[in-house]
Amino acid sequence: MERTFSIIKPDAVARNLQGEIMAMIQSAGLRVVGMKMIQLTKSQAEGFYAVHSERPFFGSLVEYMCSGPCVVMCLEGDNAVQKYRDLMGATNKDNAAEGTIRKKYALDIEKNSCHGSDGQDTAAVEIAYFFNALELVG
Ligand code: TYD
Repeated sequence: MERTFSIIKPDAVARNLQGEIMAMIQSAGLRVVGMKMIQLTKSQAEGFYAVHSERPFFGSLVEYMCSGPCVVMCLEGDNAVQKYRDLMGATNKDNAAEGTIRKKYALDIEKNSCHGSDGQDTAAVEIAYFFNALELVG
């Protein structure tokens, strides 16, 4: 069993798509073991995306991530990190495969509806950034 971290981003929550995205996640065989709705502060978003702080899109990305509520989740399943990356599709919706969350729902490369950890080490860091042990179930 493996865990990964997921965000349903503000563009998707604003369009009330959380239920549909969660249904796709659960149909893919991933189990939700932690979940909450939050509105990120600027410093929380900057911390989460610190790896991108030198990129030209950083300021806009941080502003967008704080623009409305998100749903953050810890997901568990076999091969959870890769399974969820596959379900999300490519960062840019124009390159995302049919049937993926981003192909279906993303608005553009920034407002791309979902986040998923890119590896097991990143997943552990990201889960700990948003959840304490009491907020995660078996
Ligand atoms: P990245 O980690 O490269 O993609 P992914 O979310 O697929 O792991 O980038 C993080 C987020 O930054 C991405 O989901 C959307 C945003 N972003 C932009 O706004 N513009 C860009 O050119 C890129 C590459 C990413």
